[in-house]
Amino acid sequence: KEYNDVPIIIIGSGYGGAVSALRLCEAGKKVIILEMGLNWEKAGIPFSNLLKPGKSSAWLKKKSIAPFMNIFSLTPFTGILDRLDFDHINIWVGRGVGGGSLVNGGMAVTPKESYFKEVFPDLDAEKFYNHYFPLVREELKVNVIDEQFLEECPYYKFTRVGEEEAHKAGFKTMRVPNVYDFKYMEKEFRNEVPRSALNTEVIYGNNYGKNSLDKTYLRKALETGNLEILDLHRVQTIQMNDDKSYTLHVQQIDTSGALVAQKVFNCKKLILSAGTMGTLQLLLQSHAENGFPVHEKIGKNWGNNGNFMTGRNWVKPLSGGTGAKQSTIPVGGIDNWDDPEHPFFTEIAPLPMGMDVATALYLLINRVDKKGEVAYNTTNKSLTLNWNESNTSKMKENAQYFIRKMNKANGGTRSHLLFNNGFGADICYHPLGGCVLGEATNEYGKLKDHENLYVLDGSLIPGTIGVNPFVTITAIAEYCIENLIVQNEFA
Ligand code: FDA
Repeated sequence: KEYNDVPIIIIGSGYGGAVSALRLCEAGKKVIILEMGLNWEKAGIPFSNLLKPGKSSAWLKKKSIAPFMNIFSLTPFTGILDRLDFDHINIWVGRGVGGGSLVNGGMAVTPKESYFKEVFPDLDAEKFYNHYFPLVREELKVNVIDEQFLEECPYYKFTRVGEEEAHKAGFKTMRVPNVYDFKYMEKEFRNEVPRSALNTEVIYGNNYGKNSLDKTYLRKALETGNLEILDLHRVQTIQMNDDKSYTLHVQQIDTSGALVAQKVFNCKKLILSAGTMGTLQLLLQSHAENGFPVHEKIGKNWGNNGNFMTGRNWVKPLSGGTGAKQSTIPVGGIDNWDDPEHPFFTEIAPLPMGMDVATALYLLINRVDKKGEVAYNTTNKSLTLNWNESNTSKMKENAQYFIRKMNKANGGTRSHLLFNNGFGADICYHPLGGCVLGEATNEYGKLKDHENLYVLDGSLIPGTIGVNPFVTITAIAEYCIENLIVQNEFA
């Protein structure tokens, strides 16, 4: 089947794709989103929780793929969480209408202005902090937990213990905003509505409470009547035609991953929002297979946003650890960013295992001193990543420093329960870069060497932003699409 003369196609329905769709639809443009994952709202299939992984828990895998403790076998299904395995790093990504917003912890953190300026010296920081960041916080429905609820709710013992211990060790803590509706959570706690965050739902999806993109940007875009989303449509390769338009080779699959149809789409304007790894795969694979033009900077300046997991065991064992019942939504962080020797931010992460495992989990976000590079291996048709222990050595040093200081003040040991040697250097939730704004693209995300191709997703950020990235990805996408529309790129 062929779709000819489609004006605008967006590949992927994560943050970059959803923002682009809304603003183009509002400007009266007809848009098609091609999304390889399932439209869960339309399918009406419930998401599973952490304790009982089911259909939503993994993208076509036979076993669950949480970062640790996977004992569950599965019937392959187009679930929302996928893991891409490289030699020294495993990268988790979201699949489905809403992209990463379906699987993520909802932490909606605006970067520190000084670091934003360092990462993006050419952007107008004042405009971002006065306009784009407030705009996206509103669109994404960002809110903050009520302090009294946090103080009293047994499901947040892990946060209270984490903060108390951090203070005792001399660290500064911060409250972390989220897109999960905390008013809903309070009702869950009082048993007035079905439970979600308080029922171990998060990385396999939240049935209630969370304002993922299908409830915000994408819903608004659909309401204009100008957007069509085709789910279970996986773009295989892109070809550039002589008239500078694009032809996409697409596989429609069913929920078992089986091929339903091969389709060809022709479009004048193409926006790549397939997420950092998805966008790089499409560009580099198309280049290898049909000579698709790619600029020399593509694949360069990639980073893991300094992601480094670690944990501590037997946090205050005598006083009852971190709690058997835990909310899945993190609300606390430790901010050590201004320490010149050991700059890092860490999430005080939940570990809702259904029992008190007396373990504290931390996801550190560090600077990325040494960037990696993404390339394409034509033999096995997959991406390769030039990334090894040397890229994460400073991150490990920071984690060691953090754990030592916490244990010295509070007791406890490095967690061997969760990771080899207590360190998860190979766990990445925040792949960024490889198609960096102003390097591989112009100042608004238009790809160099192309007239009708734009990249709007996490790959625009040069490997690091110092905090959880979706607020920044959304703000950069707003900035780019606004300017591209003003410049009549989609006229
Ligand atoms: P995103 O990955 O969201 O979307 C890309 C979409 O494109 C996907 O839906 C994918 O299926 C689709 N796609 C890819 N290739 C395709 C193809 N060939 N054809 C068709 N479709 C294709 N961040 C944060 O700020 N706060 C947080 O709390 C967390 N927590 C967190 C937890 C976990 C477990 C993960 C995995 C990630 C997070 N993140 C996070 C990270 C955050 O979710 C991530 O940075 C963004 O989702 C990235 O947004 P993008 O728009 O770049 O792509």
